[in-house]
Amino acid sequence: MDVNFDVKHGLEGVAVAISSISYIDGEKGKLVYRGFEIEDLVENSNFEETSYLIWFGSLPNENELDFIKSMLSKKRELPKKIVKMMKELPKNAHPMDVLRSAVSLLGIYSEKTNSSLENAINLTAKIPTIIAYWYRIKNEMKLIRPREDLNHSENFLYMMFGEVSEKSDIFDKALILHAEQGMNASTFASTVTASTLSDLYSIITTAIGALKGPLHGGANERVLKMFEEIKSIDNVENYIDSLILKGEKIMGFGHRIYKTYDPRARILKNWIKNLFINERIEYFEIALKVEEYVIKKFKNKKIFPNVDFYSGILYNYFRIPSEFFTTIFAMARIVGWTAHAMEYKKNNRIFRPRSIYKGPKGLKYREVKGVEN
Ligand SMILES: CC(C)(COP(=O)(O)OP(=O)(O)OC[C@H]1O[C@@H](n2cnc3c(N)ncnc32)[C@H](O)[C@@H]1OP(=O)(O)O)[C@@H](O)C(=O)NCCC(=O)NCCS
Repeated sequence: MDVNFDVKHGLEGVAVAISSISYIDGEKGKLVYRGFEIEDLVENSNFEETSYLIWFGSLPNENELDFIKSMLSKKRELPKKIVKMMKELPKNAHPMDVLRSAVSLLGIYSEKTNSSLENAINLTAKIPTIIAYWYRIKNEMKLIRPREDLNHSENFLYMMFGEVSEKSDIFDKALILHAEQGMNASTFASTVTASTLSDLYSIITTAIGALKGPLHGGANERVLKMFEEIKSIDNVENYIDSLILKGEKIMGFGHRIYKTYDPRARILKNWIKNLFINERIEYFEIALKVEEYVIKKFKNKKIFPNVDFYSGILYNYFRIPSEFFTTIFAMARIVGWTAHAMEYKKNNRIFRPRSIYKGPKGLKYREVKGVEN
């Protein structure tokens, strides 16, 4: 056995890059993009402007903002061949599988460019179209083509449901909240692919695969399933107790870095609370009870709601089916993934960690009888 190496299980506490994209204070519950606190950005910015900030490192001036808005709105349509292939897919395919496959196909059918930034903008513009087209193909509805006169979020909700939502600004702010989060699992996975000097489409295909897992972005879909199963606030305690008894994790709780309330969860919860003043928001009362009970039960482990605990309630409010929730996460996080890939490549070194071998040694090959080479 190699004795010269420590295993850092899950790479906890290991820094793999120097970055100026975002900063997280896990003890104080702070998230900062390029020096701006997330609370400031969701209050005052929009998805296009925040994307520019994350990619370029500073807020755009008027011309730069016009440039990014126009680039993002002009590149929304998908190549016809990809739409044709999507129509051939089985209708029960999971939206994250479809998104991963369509991004991979875009790597083949998009105009060839060596500019990572152009590819990043192209993917950011097209991911909402892939999601909305798949929603409509799956449900055998006529596709709604993108409209250049609408902003990123308005256009996405329009392509999904055929109308311009009056509340698209809340959806837009939710995208800002999800756009970046340091060296999380999907960003790390995609940075590994970037470190081999692979292309941006391969990098983002890697990221989507990693995001899909229930311990990462896939948690938001599971959270809604949990609320559906709980059905009523009277069942909350029994339901949570039975998960604890089975040794299962409670979805939407816990975080490697935040050891206090995730600031994104707090912001989402406040928006939902404000909406709740005028109308009943499905599952919100159950969520509040789950939160209270889980925090109490895990007092010693510092487990609090993370972003995935409240995001599903908001998406459900927008009529987005739960199996599409993680694709909405990807639609925002594409900005962080691409920013990290571009940043890492400026000072690139291929990732090549070790594993410690504990298997047998010195075995001798023996031919299986009766098998001819
Ligand atoms: C996010 C997550 C993967 C972080 O994992 P991690 O940093 O490896 O944390 P650990 O699993 O080591 O957790 C530390 C302790 O808290 C417990 N814990 C963490 N999250 C928990 C949860 N959601 N439910 C129950 N217990 C949890 C662990 O069992 C562990 O307990 P132990 O020390 O007695 O073994 C983990 O909290 C989790 O699985 N959460 C649920 C999935 C989720 O919501 N993911 C979205 C993240 S944004």
